[in-house]
Amino acid sequence: MSILQMVEKLEESSESQMDLCPDLDANLVDYNERMLTLASNQSAAQILADAVAVRLPKWVLRAATGLPTETFNIIRTAKSLTNQLGEKIVREKMDVARQGLAVETDTFDMLLDLGSSERRKNILTFEEVAAQTGILLIGGQDTTSNTLAFGLLELARHPEFQEQLRAQIHASRATVSSAISYDTMPLLNAFVKETLRVYPVGPIQERIATQDMVIPLADEITTTAGERINQITVLDYDSTNRFCRLASRWGKDALEFRPSRWLDGTISQGQAVGPYANLLTFLGGPRVCLGWRFAILEMQVFFAELAGKFAFTLPEEGDPIHMRFSGSLMPVLPTDKKSAPLCVTPI
Ligand code: HEM
Repeated sequence: MSILQMVEKLEESSESQMDLCPDLDANLVDYNERMLTLASNQSAAQILADAVAVRLPKWVLRAATGLPTETFNIIRTAKSLTNQLGEKIVREKMDVARQGLAVETDTFDMLLDLGSSERRKNILTFEEVAAQTGILLIGGQDTTSNTLAFGLLELARHPEFQEQLRAQIHASRATVSSAISYDTMPLLNAFVKETLRVYPVGPIQERIATQDMVIPLADEITTTAGERINQITVLDYDSTNRFCRLASRWGKDALEFRPSRWLDGTISQGQAVGPYANLLTFLGGPRVCLGWRFAILEMQVFFAELAGKFAFTLPEEGDPIHMRFSGSLMPVLPTDKKSAPLCVTPI
């Protein structure tokens, strides 16, 4: 069964509340896809060039983005189209507010703050809000879709867990008469957390310290010089991936995908980090992922809908998929092509 047939089946379902037809211009959808393809096909040289580029003065970067190359043309057009979409949304919001109908329901409403008689100090200008559209579109796509793909792959790799999860989903549908409360489904939430732990979509987050500081370590480590230390003086970058695999925190089998660790006391809580489940997958602090709560809800809904209605198995050829980091962590075939082919059967 293809993904399209799967979506059609979900749309047919009277229980499905998902809006699967976003009102986006075809040209924007096309350029958005080209942007994602650019980001997911970076060669080692391009990744290195990106790392060097962030250290260049801003004016050099601005000048470079004006170069008439195919890559920069895609970036410029996608940015211009998302800005136009943002301006359209902002205009519509302002029209609604003028009619006295504005209600704070989405990110744009909150950023614009049209409901209050006096706009908050330091609030973004209308142009700045419109310009955030591209960030929201890019920030919310590959992150969630790659994580969902890894999750479905793990369901196929763990048929017994898949059965248990499906049984729990069916049981809660049978007992709950109104909307399902996803937060009360232990296996579903353990599965969401384990997927985010094992597959942090941004496995390396570079940070540069703006002043000298000492950072205490939760556990002593041995340096390459053989010295045991419990603090470091400056943190240049932090590896989300390494934190998510610490045996001291997640258990001796931290490298394995095992959702039950979230239910059987394997995990040592330790110092709180990140906004969700003590994971660093969404980072933390002032630059925490703005969409983390929405992303969790998306994952709960998708996994519950999909695992409830379809069975996922590995293709007959076996399990050729592995992880690759290129802008984000993604599932790839041995050819390095981004893909996670699975056999999908309606229940
Ligand atoms: C599994 C899903 C997601 C993961 C793992 C994730 C992870 C992250 C991480 C690690 C960052 C910090 C990047 C950095 O500062 O270098 C970030 C930033 C951000 N994310 Fe997400 N994200 C996810 C989904 C979403 C969604 C669904 C949205 C919006 C609808 C979103 C919007 C943003 C935005 C706007 C930022 C920039 C925040 C800032 O710079 O202050 N993310 N995300």
